[in-house]
Amino acid sequence: MATSRPRKPIVGGNWKCNPKTLEEAQKLLGEWKNYPSFDKRKIDVFACPMMPHLMKVKAPMEKLGVSACAQNCSKTDEGAFTGEVSASQLRDSRVGWTLVGHSERRTKYGETDEDVAEKTAKALAAGLKVVVAIGELLDEREAGKTNEVNERMLKPVIDKVKKEDWSKIVIAYEPVWAIGTGKVATPEQAEETQAAIRAFLAKAVSEEVAEKVRIQYGGSVTPENCAELIKKPNIDGFLVGGASLKGTFMDIVRKSLPPIRLKKPKFSKIQDLDPVSKGFNVYAKCTKAAKEADGVDGVYEAQVGDETGLVTVSFRNKDLCDLCKEGASLRIQNTAVRMVKGHIRLNVDKWAAFKVADEEHTFSVSEKNDVSATEYELVET
Ligand code: 13P
Repeated sequence: MATSRPRKPIVGGNWKCNPKTLEEAQKLLGEWKNYPSFDKRKIDVFACPMMPHLMKVKAPMEKLGVSACAQNCSKTDEGAFTGEVSASQLRDSRVGWTLVGHSERRTKYGETDEDVAEKTAKALAAGLKVVVAIGELLDEREAGKTNEVNERMLKPVIDKVKKEDWSKIVIAYEPVWAIGTGKVATPEQAEETQAAIRAFLAKAVSEEVAEKVRIQYGGSVTPENCAELIKKPNIDGFLVGGASLKGTFMDIVRKSLPPIRLKKPKFSKIQDLDPVSKGFNVYAKCTKAAKEADGVDGVYEAQVGDETGLVTVSFRNKDLCDLCKEGASLRIQNTAVRMVKGHIRLNVDKWAAFKVADEEHTFSVSEKNDVSATEYELVET
């Protein structure tokens, strides 16, 4: 995961001309919903469905904390422009973001650097936030022209955008040879190019803008390769194509979050658990392997214990089931103790760290004191 990040990470899903049906789009959001929610103060997430789907799925998407983004907008205003959608019409439809300059628009529909700059200006004037996509073709990279191409694409944008509007712009660096090819740029390649983009902005706009503007990387990003990329200081997030059409897009979001700072752990005994506490650290042995909780979809439960007693641990992240095997020694950090229907539970949410303990921790387990089976009553003190 990333070390300390100067800029808030931003991850977007560009669905392009997918999926085929509205039902599939809705189903995808249903899959995203199964993942733990993310903290919107720590990361920005947007998605770009195609236009008719966007208007239908916007509300459920926003409920998940995902902002609605158009894939394109017009460089012209309203009027006799068949097939266009103006920036103000997007704004009027409560769409807050638009993507401009995607390489598919440039290479398949002939959009020029100047067109992209005009679209950016129109979108900003209408009050939209804008993701400006840039990036070189394979032969341009091979000819050593990567930085030159990115600068050429950015120059008309720089000429049209007021300094104070740069806070509403995100740059998506998407090398065309990496898009949809499975051939992701190496973290070093992406970092080197994105550092060069930032250096160019420092020169052509200002140091302050360059320091603050967020630069996403795009091109064959997956849940497997994103963690290494986000470690790089000039990679502030991702613009994701194919992998955003899967539930596991939310793994990319999770892996792009700034690291959780855990306090130095002071491990507690299960007996010391107080049913109104947060930030508990416990060592315990798994006494009942994880399984889906009765009657609650997407919640898994396991029982753990130490020499002072037993408690139920619950979590939504299915991957943790693999760790919760009977007999496994576990180290649960920063867990919340929750009352559920009068019983206490250790709640492992996204802020908690959950690991198999180092070997030296061995436990004897007392089955007599089943804390989770004790009915607690919360009383005002
Ligand atoms: P892929 O992630 O499918 O390579 O697409 C990247 C992209 O074009 C996002 O805009």
